Amino acid sequence: MTFHATVLTLYPEMFPGSLDLSLAGRAREAGTWSLETVQIRDFATSKHRNVDDTPAGGGAGMVMRADVLARAIDHAAPADDPRPRLLMSPRGKPLDQQRVRELAAGPGAVILCGRFEGVDQRVIEARGLEEVSVGDYVLSGGEPAALVLLDAVIRLLPGVMGNDASGEEESFEGGLLEHPQYTRPQLFEERPIPEVLLSGNHAKIAAWRRAEAERLTRERRPDLWAALNKDRQRVP
Ligand SMILES: C[S@@+](CC[C@H](N)C(=O)[O-])C[C@H]1O[C@@H](n2cnc3c(N)ncnc32)[C@H](O)[C@@H]1O
Repeated sequence: MTFHATVLTLYPEMFPGSLDLSLAGRAREAGTWSLETVQIRDFATSKHRNVDDTPAGGGAGMVMRADVLARAIDHAAPADDPRPRLLMSPRGKPLDQQRVRELAAGPGAVILCGRFEGVDQRVIEARGLEEVSVGDYVLSGGEPAALVLLDAVIRLLPGVMGNDASGEEESFEGGLLEHPQYTRPQLFEERPIPEVLLSGNHAKIAAWRRAEAERLTRERRPDLWAALNKDRQRVP
């Protein structure tokens, strides 16, 4: 099954960008996922092809017009298109690995990239857009956020990662950050690899990794740690 991504943007030349390299690039060549970009400006009807206008109620900046965006969305994803319609937005629900997994298990995504001060609220409601944030900071446009989302999804598509187990063991899977990783040389600037990792004792190695993952999560992400412990308490 191919994952179909459609990105609505004023800057189609930003795609596929980094997604044409490495794992994602090879996966696109192999037909694991496909990408279509839609130039929002093609759906403007005014003489000057305006896609934005001044905010109702006054204030700085410009707002993307609901009518232009609705036409672009309807062209890209008719009502019977089963793919979720996402709007990249700093106001959205923060993207997490669970949502990434859900998206990767589905048929694809239609992704609207905002610009200026954002988009008219009415098109968000009228077209059922799911607002998704990539973090608590403001980007100048939704395009880098869409690239982040697609990168995270594509690497989980079947066959994209060479060793499928690597997806299950990494950060956030199981609610923990990943344990520290080491490789050769055995001694780097007088820092040895922790001895347990060279012991060949798989049970001890697994226990060490688990303890380190828990320590890092406790220290760095008390929010994840609290959520994990809450879940554990719920299990009968
Ligand atoms: C300059 S921002 C608009 C910010 C908006 N005025 C606000 O304060 O919420 C322009 C566009 O960039 C995108 N964007 C900015 N930050 C983002 C983030 N953290 N996550 C996802 N998209 C973001 C959105 O598509 C947004 O419409």
